[in-house]
Amino acid sequence: MPVTNKKPNSRQVFGVQILTNSHPEIKKIRLQTGHPSIHGNKFWKSTYLLMDYLKEFPPEKIKRKNGKKLRVLEIGCGWGVGGIFCAKQFSAELTALDADPVVFPYLQYHAQINGVDASTWRSRYEQVKKQDLDKFDIVVAADICFWDEMTKPLYNLVRRANSVGTRVVITDPGRQPFRDMAEKCVGKLGATYETWSVPHPCNASGFVVDYDPNYQA
Ligand SMILES: C[S@@+](CC[C@H](N)C(=O)[O-])C[C@H]1O[C@@H](n2cnc3c(N)ncnc32)[C@H](O)[C@@H]1O
Repeated sequence: MPVTNKKPNSRQVFGVQILTNSHPEIKKIRLQTGHPSIHGNKFWKSTYLLMDYLKEFPPEKIKRKNGKKLRVLEIGCGWGVGGIFCAKQFSAELTALDADPVVFPYLQYHAQINGVDASTWRSRYEQVKKQDLDKFDIVVAADICFWDEMTKPLYNLVRRANSVGTRVVITDPGRQPFRDMAEKCVGKLGATYETWSVPHPCNASGFVVDYDPNYQA
């Protein structure tokens, strides 16, 4: 059998097809739209943690505010794989938010090849209001708290979501700004915060913070 070092430029994980930066379609998008500027330049591994965690603790059981489709908001979506997973796995309606609109063509291409729809919303997550959060059943995110100045706005977003009964699940490889935010969510809101890992072939490990205001043990 011939041995090759060539890495595949597409993989199927948790039922979602994910392309790499070397995939011809991704290269085409990059030529047309340029490089995302706030680290949305690739798929980040914390999304593996998010998908695995949501399979274990699915949002299916949470009370739907409109009684119909589960409505998911992915914040700091980048290529949007976490939200696309929710759209496929839970037949959810997906809104994908990012401060950098350059990520949206990458997200839309992934939505298309995975056979789901996604609405996009250009905004900074610190500007998402209570009334906006009230339109969703769950907010999901991966690797969006990497600078110190992100700790406070993200904690405040979790607090606002809490006040309107919206669940928030955020994963991270364990960067200090995220850990500070998560510890505040535990101390002040009673959120769940734990280590999480997904073995080979994903090889991802980190943390997850989950705050579900409607959860009853
Ligand atoms: C490290 S990437 C993670 C992307 C994606 N969640 C993933 O795991 O593949 C961080 C993303 O958050 C976005 N972002 C950074 N600061 C943001 C903010 N204040 N509001 C909204 N999006 C933000 C970036 O544009 C980028 O797409």
